[in-house]
Amino acid sequence: MDISKIISGIRVNQADSAPMYLQIANGLAAKIQNSTLSVGTKLPPERELAKLLEVSRTTIISAYRLLEEQALVTTRVGSGTYVAELANTDRPTANILWEQLFAPQYKSPLSSLLRTLVATPTADETISLAAGMPDPTFYPLAIIQKALLSGKYNFESSDLGYIATEGYLPLKHSLAAWQSHQGIQATPDQILIASGSQQGLYLIVKTFVEPRDYVIVESPTYLGAIQAFEASGARILTLPPSDGINFELLEDYLIRYRPKLMYTIPTFQNPTGRVMSLQDRQELIRLAARYRLVIVEDDPYSQLYYGQQPPPSLKSLDTYGGVIYMGTFSKILFPGLRTGWVIAAPQVINRLAQEKQHIDLHSNNLSQIILHVCLEEGYLASHLATVRVEYKKRRDAMVSAIRRYCSDYMNFSIPEGGFYLWCTVTPPASGTELIRRAAAVGVSFVPGEAFYTNGTKSNEIRLCFCTHNADLLKEGIRRLGRIFTSGAADAAQPSSTAGRPII
Ligand SMILES: Cc1ncc(COP(=O)(O)O)c(C=O)c1O
Repeated sequence: MDISKIISGIRVNQADSAPMYLQIANGLAAKIQNSTLSVGTKLPPERELAKLLEVSRTTIISAYRLLEEQALVTTRVGSGTYVAELANTDRPTANILWEQLFAPQYKSPLSSLLRTLVATPTADETISLAAGMPDPTFYPLAIIQKALLSGKYNFESSDLGYIATEGYLPLKHSLAAWQSHQGIQATPDQILIASGSQQGLYLIVKTFVEPRDYVIVESPTYLGAIQAFEASGARILTLPPSDGINFELLEDYLIRYRPKLMYTIPTFQNPTGRVMSLQDRQELIRLAARYRLVIVEDDPYSQLYYGQQPPPSLKSLDTYGGVIYMGTFSKILFPGLRTGWVIAAPQVINRLAQEKQHIDLHSNNLSQIILHVCLEEGYLASHLATVRVEYKKRRDAMVSAIRRYCSDYMNFSIPEGGFYLWCTVTPPASGTELIRRAAAVGVSFVPGEAFYTNGTKSNEIRLCFCTHNADLLKEGIRRLGRIFTSGAADAAQPSSTAGRPII
């Protein structure tokens, strides 16, 4: 085997937006397809190629795994990796240059970090502290069976046909009743059921924001919101982190830029876990009313409090009708039903529904039926009572584990609710570097840069404490401690991760 022939021309550029394993896989694939590497050629062992290309062994494992998925190589256990018979692949060759046909797409400065995050191979036994996911063992399978099979709710065949774009009417009624317990009074014509609050946000952006419009966001903030605003061509004004809202700066923005809207997560914010004080909420509403500022209140976490109840929502304090409220079942029940909701003035709901018709006609009926039953049966309330106790224990378990294993390297405040611990790490390292080190020790998280606009550097990381039980959290944090004390090792066995959303 002539290794120089195999690697000649393969360049690995760390600054490239494509992950390194992909660059290597693409280079080898080209050589296989143009027969520079003939059928049966044995590729170098992973460790050897890693050394030659000055990358980690994990990177080479991922590259080989991808080539295997593309049927360009085969692995013989105990022997090595060999170029496969091209004739064995029944894939058509790429005659269409797809990239040239795609419509122009906004490329966020975050793209390369996110791609690294999604594409970094993780071992199957990796403990993910990255995804903002409830623990799947809490998903209420019995209630789904009850909803669909008990016969109590007398579903009609028409419930499974096309329904109103705004949503399944019984769910809108039960949601209105549920929200009234939290001080939000809404009639069904003020509610739109969306396929997740992410869709709600997308519809709001489509409805209000034109390229070059100004919008205000907290900094840091939810990645999905940054992406939605950036993709719309909006110019983003940020309110930097501080103990409370910097009203002087906010008013300056309002006078100088006349922003279309302000997006905020006032309660157990993603990623910081912060809560806007009651005083700031009242002052924000006062200022917004004065300047006719539309506030988009994103509220996935307020019901997940582990001490005192948080202050009332901005929507419930709204004196001028300018607050658009978004809720979701993703964090309080299960994300896979993809159901969230928007509460706003009927004219706004009407326009959002028109936008929604362009993308999915209406949200999934079965999910809406199941959620209606969860609300009617009081299931959601009792489920919340259970998870509040459990998530509090998990938060405390993560906090003690950090104190035990990472106290020299991480600072944080303890959040009173929500899903996340927002930690400042020392010594600072780039997000990409931290992801790489974490993958090698079998743990994952989201680096702080993902939550800032304009490529702002960050030495923070976000850890989710809700998905795993206390023992796994402790083990995850023990592994995390290693990324500060040792360089990356070649421990991870990759599995395919492409297409996973980062939430
Ligand atoms: C602040 C915030 N808004 C919206 C979403 C999206 O939620 P959904 O699953 O309802 O689309 C998330 C998910 O993490 C979130 O944290």
